Amino acid sequence: MRKRSRFKLFTYLALAGLITLVFFAFNSLVFDPSVPGNSPISKELYKVISPSTYRFILNQPEVCEKKTPFLILMIPVTLKDAEARTAIRRTWGQDGLVPGVSILHLFVVGQPARSDPVLQEHLQKESKEHGDIIQMDFVDSYQNLTIKTMMIMNWVATYCQSAWYAMKIDADIFLNVHYLVDYLHGQGESRKDYITGSVISDAIPHRDSINKWYISEDLYPKSWYPPYVSGAAYVFSTDLAGKISWASRFVQPIPLEDVYVGLCLDVLGVKPVYATQFLGLRNLFEVRRLKYERCTFATRIIVNGFKPKYLIRIWHDFQKSHFAC
Ligand SMILES: *[C@@H]1O[C@H](CO)[C@@H](O)[C@H](O)[C@H]1NC(C)=O
Repeated sequence: MRKRSRFKLFTYLALAGLITLVFFAFNSLVFDPSVPGNSPISKELYKVISPSTYRFILNQPEVCEKKTPFLILMIPVTLKDAEARTAIRRTWGQDGLVPGVSILHLFVVGQPARSDPVLQEHLQKESKEHGDIIQMDFVDSYQNLTIKTMMIMNWVATYCQSAWYAMKIDADIFLNVHYLVDYLHGQGESRKDYITGSVISDAIPHRDSINKWYISEDLYPKSWYPPYVSGAAYVFSTDLAGKISWASRFVQPIPLEDVYVGLCLDVLGVKPVYATQFLGLRNLFEVRRLKYERCTFATRIIVNGFKPKYLIRIWHDFQKSHFAC
C-alpha cells in the first residue's frame, strides 16, 4: 500500500513536471517573452527575407578572419556599377587610409532580372582581382533593397562579428573616413545596440500611389513609422546585425529598406542615435546635396549624391583638408 502510494506520488510529480515542461516549451514557441506585443510573421512572408532562401554566387567568408577590422563598409551595388566600384576603391574604400585602423569594404550584389553572362564574367574577374565582392541570387531591384539589406545584416552576423562597427553605405556617397573613425573613437564604449546616422523620427507612410515611397495600408497599416536612419549611410555596432536579422521574423517585409530596419529596431527596443555637432545644429550624415567645398566637407561624415567621376575629382583636393582646414 505504502509502496503503491509512493509510486503514485512519483507518477503525479513526473506528470506535473512533464506538463510544466510542455507548457513552457509551447509558450516560448508561441510567445517570445522578450518581444511583448510582437508575433512572428507567416512562414511564406518570412521566406522572402530569410537568409536561408538565397545562395551565394560569390562570397568572401574569410576577410574578417585574417584581420580584426575596426569597421567594415558594406556597399550595395548592382552588377553594372563597375565604375562606382572603381571610384570607391580609389577614394574612401582604399586600404590603409587611416594608419593603424583596419577598415574593410565589401560590395554587395544581387542578380539582374535578365541574366547577363558577359557582365557576370566581368564581375567574377573583378572579384578574383580585388576579393571585395559578395553576390547572392535574389533579383537586384529597387523593391528588393530590403532583401539586400537583410543579407548584409546576416553576412555581418555570420562572417564578421569580430569587427567593432559595420556601415551600410550607398555607392553614390562621399565618405570622410578620418572624421568617422575619430567620431566612433569618441563614442567610447557604446559598442552595443548602437546605430547612428541621419535619424528620421517623425515620418509617416505615404499613401499616394505615385509617390516614390508609397506604401499600401495592407503592407503597413499603422499611420506612423518608428524612428529610423536614412538608408544612404548608417553605422552600427556589429552585435546589432544578428539582432536585426532575428527581429525580421516579426516584421512583415516592406520595400522601404531603411524603414524596415527601423521596424526591426523597434522590435528590439533600440533607438537610433542622431549624429550631430554644435548642439544638434549640424547633421554629420549630410543627406542633402552640398556643393563641394574642402573645409565644409571636412566637418561631415558623409555627403550625399556623388557620381563616380566627381568623387575621384574632389578626392585629391580633399586630402589637403588634414592640414588646410
Ligand atoms: C525580388 O527577388 C525575388 C527573389 O529573387 C524575386 O522573385 C522577385 O521577383 C524580386 N522582386 C522584384 C520586384 O524585383
